[in-house]
Amino acid sequence: MNKIKNTLFSNKPVTIDENSLIMAIESSCDETACAIVKGGREVLSNVVASQIKTHEKFGGVIPEIAAREHLEAVNVVVEEAFKQAGLNGNKIDAFAGTVGPGLVGCLLVGMNAAKTLALAYDKPFIGINHLNAHLAANFIDTDLKPPFIALLVSGGHTQIIEVKSYSEQNIIGETIDDAVGEAYDKVARLIGLPYPGGPKLDKMAHEGNPFSFKLPECKVDGYNFSFSGLKTATLRLVKSFEGKDLPLADICASFQECVSSTLYKKVKHALEEKGYNQVVLAGGVAANSEIRRKIFSLQDFGYKVFAPQMKYCTDNAAMVASAAFLFDNTFDNIDVEVFSRV
Ligand code: KG4
Ligand code: ZN
Repeated sequence: MNKIKNTLFSNKPVTIDENSLIMAIESSCDETACAIVKGGREVLSNVVASQIKTHEKFGGVIPEIAAREHLEAVNVVVEEAFKQAGLNGNKIDAFAGTVGPGLVGCLLVGMNAAKTLALAYDKPFIGINHLNAHLAANFIDTDLKPPFIALLVSGGHTQIIEVKSYSEQNIIGETIDDAVGEAYDKVARLIGLPYPGGPKLDKMAHEGNPFSFKLPECKVDGYNFSFSGLKTATLRLVKSFEGKDLPLADICASFQECVSSTLYKKVKHALEEKGYNQVVLAGGVAANSEIRRKIFSLQDFGYKVFAPQMKYCTDNAAMVASAAFLFDNTFDNIDVEVFSRV
């Protein structure tokens, strides 16, 4: 799949093919990341600087602080990515950066760093939609090709997407309130787990009985989701234990059971109704053990199931570089602006 992209400074055509090296920068939320990927699927370096320690004390991401930390980290991750791959800027065929959706001040740092590198080395700039990058995480080290149904679950999004081709992706369902990762983080906070609570809640759920409390599954029709009812019901359940010992593990396990079965049912329904035979899990919450287990159980019905390797589930730049190679609906203009929402 050869593509022609123009360099930023002198507007020269550059062919992007299986041997092309793309360096990408990701800074949409609280990870500053840089990676170099060959041909969209082979990762030569992957560096992630996490800000979790900084935001932990606030219980969530503070956008202005996050943007400042990206500024401090961006040159460091770029240098480290070159070093890990044993390459310099002259060897890179194109520079990619996430342009949205995400926190505007944060996106500006990574996108402008990528544009600057592209200008300095006179190579093309490829602007990437963060959601396509999460999908692309599934192409690393695999032979995945569209069409497929994707379940994209992260801190900011919960979507079922029909990925028809590298240029056409249709969102057929999404959350009408909280994203799955957001619901995990809020419930985790409620029961006293530190930010980001999602992975900690997942771990604790292993110690509990998933059927100890019956929590309400999402009642929204079709492929859309809602998690606010479940969040309120969990809050009420926690309050009912006031003055008593909280059965933490059982609450976590019951919450996880409720979320994972809602996601499983909607995805299975989409696969059956839309007639696809491949399903892809993506986004930070794709790291969740029970959601992974349930989605992989779709193999029993003959579906081909993909989920990213754990290190490519949460935000990273390898997936951005992969998306820059694979997807056709990219933003390749020097004038492209960052955007906060889809
Ligand atoms: O994709 P990501 O790194 O950032 C966004 O684009 O939002 O996703 C981060 C989200 C956080 O809400 C985090 O709590 C959640 O992914 N997460 C998990 C797990 N690992 C990460 N949620 C549930 N179980 C996990 N194992
Ligand atoms: Zn993300």
